[in-house]
Parts: sequence; C-alpha cells; structure tokens
Amino acid sequence: MLKSRRKFLKKSSIGLLSIPLLSAGLLSFVPKASKPLKILILGGTSFLGPHQIAYAIQRGHQITTFTRGKSKPTVHLDLMDKVDQLIGDRDSDLSALEKGEWDVVIDNSGRKTAWTEESANLLKERAGIYMYTSSTGVFYPYLQDSVDEEFPVRLTAPDQIENEEEKMEYWYGAMKASSEAATIKAFGKDRAVIVRPTYMFGPGDKTNRFIYWAIRFKRGGNVMVPGKTEDRVQYIDVRDVAEWMIRLAEQKTAGTFNASGPAKTQTMIKFAKEAKNSFDVDTKLVQIDDYEFLKKQHVPHLIPWIMPVGKNYGSARIENKKAIGAGMTFRDLKTSIRETQEWWISETVSQSRRDKFELKPGSVLQREKDILASWAAYNK
Ligand SMILES: NC(=O)c1ccc[n+]([C@@H]2O[C@H](COP(=O)([O-])OP(=O)(O)OC[C@H]3O[C@@H](n4cnc5c(N)ncnc54)[C@H](OP(=O)(O)O)[C@@H]3O)[C@@H](O)[C@H]2O)c1
Repeated sequence: MLKSRRKFLKKSSIGLLSIPLLSAGLLSFVPKASKPLKILILGGTSFLGPHQIAYAIQRGHQITTFTRGKSKPTVHLDLMDKVDQLIGDRDSDLSALEKGEWDVVIDNSGRKTAWTEESANLLKERAGIYMYTSSTGVFYPYLQDSVDEEFPVRLTAPDQIENEEEKMEYWYGAMKASSEAATIKAFGKDRAVIVRPTYMFGPGDKTNRFIYWAIRFKRGGNVMVPGKTEDRVQYIDVRDVAEWMIRLAEQKTAGTFNASGPAKTQTMIKFAKEAKNSFDVDTKLVQIDDYEFLKKQHVPHLIPWIMPVGKNYGSARIENKKAIGAGMTFRDLKTSIRETQEWWISETVSQSRRDKFELKPGSVLQREKDILASWAAYNK
C-alpha cells in the first residue's frame, strides 16, 4: 500500500493523472442479505464478475470462481483474496468442479454451447439455480420495432453468410441462445435464470467501447454526435447488471430477462445532452445526422449508437419491462460516466492501454476534428 502510494505521489509530481482505485472507492454501503449464499462463478475475473463478487461479498455471500487463472481484473483486485479460486479449463478440465455444492452457479464465461451443457450437467444435482449470462445478441438480426422475452430466438446460424461481421453476429447470437436452452434443459425452467445484457460499460471494461464518451466529455470542446434525432440507444452500467443478478439469486427468481437500459426510451442526442453534464467543462454537441456522410467517414457505429439500418434496425429496441419488474435498477448516467473516467485514469489501467486507445492512428477519437471540419464544409 505504502509502495503504491509512493508510486502515486511520484506520478502525481510529474503531472500524470493516475490515481489508485481500490474497492472502497467504488462501493457504497450495502446491507447484508438475510441468508448467506454459496455462489460459484464460472469466470469472475474479467469485467462483470468482479462487480458481482464485490456486491456479493458485501451482502455476506461466499464466492468461488472457476477460471484458468490467466485473467486479472482492473477493479476490485484487492477483494480476490476473499474468493475461493478454482483452476481448470472449460475446454478440457472441469475436475475442480467435480466436488462441492453451491446455492447458485453464475455462468459468465460461456463462449461455447458445449461449455454450458457440460458444466450445467455436471452441477445440476449439486447446485440450486444456474444463472446464464446471455446477451441481447440472441435477437440478431434486429428487425423488430420492439422485442420482449417471448420473441423466438435462433438456435443456429444460417450457413451462407458472406459478410464476416454478420457471420460473427449470427454465430454469437445462436451460441448464446443455444446455451440458454442448455441451461434450461439441465436445470429445468424453475431453476434456470437467463440474463441478457445489452452493451455494458463502467469501471473495469475490457472492450474500450464506451470509454470514448468518458474521454470525450471530460475533454469538452466540439463533440461529434452521430445519428438522426430519432435514433435510439441502449446500454447499461455493468454494476447495475452485476448487483441485480446477485439480488435475483437471493430471491431465487427463475426466468429469462432482457437487461437493457436506460429505464425509458432514449435517443442518441438525449444521451449526449445528459452525458456531457458529467463534467464541468464547456462542450458543444455537433450532431451529424447524415448516414451517407457517416458511412463515408467510416462511422457506422459509436457505441451506444449503432446506425439503425438493415439487420441493425432494432438493436436498441429491446424491451426491458420484465427485468425492471424483477428489480433491475439503473445508476445515474452522469455518475456512471464520471466513475468510468476516474477508473480509466487510475493506476489499475496501464498507460500503454490508455495510449493504445487514445493515440490509435485512424481511430474516431483521432479523426473527430477532421470529421467535424468535413461536416462543416459539406453543409456550406
Ligand atoms: N461486455 C458486454 O457489453 C456484454 C454484453 C452482453 C453480454 N455479455 C456477456 O457477459 C459475460 C461476461 O463478460 P465478461 O467480459 O465479464 O467475461 P468474459 O470475457 O466473457 O469471460 C472471461 C472470464 O472467463 C474465464 N475464462 C476464459 N476462458 C476460460 C476457459 N477456457 N476456462 C475457464 N475459464 C475461462 C476468464 O478467466 P481466465 O482467462 O483466467 O481463464 C475470465 O474470468 C459474457 O458471457 C459476455 O458474453 C457481455
């Protein structure tokens, strides 16, 4: 601790913004649950898992993780010594899971249907409920005005898909949907919980998808906002998903839920107007509402915005009423963005990771000024 503080002071003195970010800085007070649970998390050391662990420990639960022991989270690292860590490989070695009983299994690391089939079958007599972390990707292609949990999902991907991006989307959706089915087959409807998050963001994100906005709104100035005025967005703070999953486990609420936010329908421009207030800097939003111009500038998406055309038409039109009815809640957007930016500049994120993203030649962050200048010229 002393060492890291000294390192912090040294870095501060040379003007680097890097600050330590321990669990205490990310947690608010949470009361204990009425009954402690034994929870097994398959995964748990990436993005969603550490937030589930932090909340579950505060609620008084006992956590076991199952991983290969390779990934390290950039949040709540200091809580990992409170976790019983089992080592194995979902591809080849589940022996560490052959003994033991748990109230709840949370399958975060499901990347192959066979992985979920095997672990759910192995654990069905020794675990109370099985929660599968799925995705709203099960609804791809997104052709509907609104989809709820009753909408039939594809269990297989079509054979003849030329476009690589589409092929990946179909594969991912079908893999998640068939893993959901494998969960229900092994545990039965009454003991299976399926949670389908939309794009998650927040401290600890490994994807660099949403951090664009935290960086951009912190800097201020002219900020490009892609999309037409009616274009919708959906996203959710990872902690809202993590904490709600633990509460579902405590309540033993079975069923399938779309974990999409925010609570009410939101457009991209409304998102930007609210998000810019995360920081006290002068910001001017410049909306670019011409899809052809955006395509020419290679901006087909800037998560949470995805150009709502073709197979992506309804990607931000996923119904969340059922999840809200089952207790899903949402943090204030401004707080989420501020805390995500604080995590990004903390010393748990390496300077090389920050540089790789912020200085990447050809990235939207690097090209934004040029895009805005072209947009101004285009509109003259
Ligand atoms: N991020 C999003 O916006 C988003 C949106 C919708 C749904 N989801 C879903 O949310 C879930 C959680 O995502 P996440 O980013 O927290 O985790 P993730 O990247 O899917 O999983 C990583 C975890 O799995 C473990 N793991 C990887 N390969 C393994 C193997 N062969 N055997 C055993 N363990 C293995 C890793 O530890 P080791 O490397 O040490 O093994 C790590 O703990 C995923 O299922 C994802 O599809 C994410």
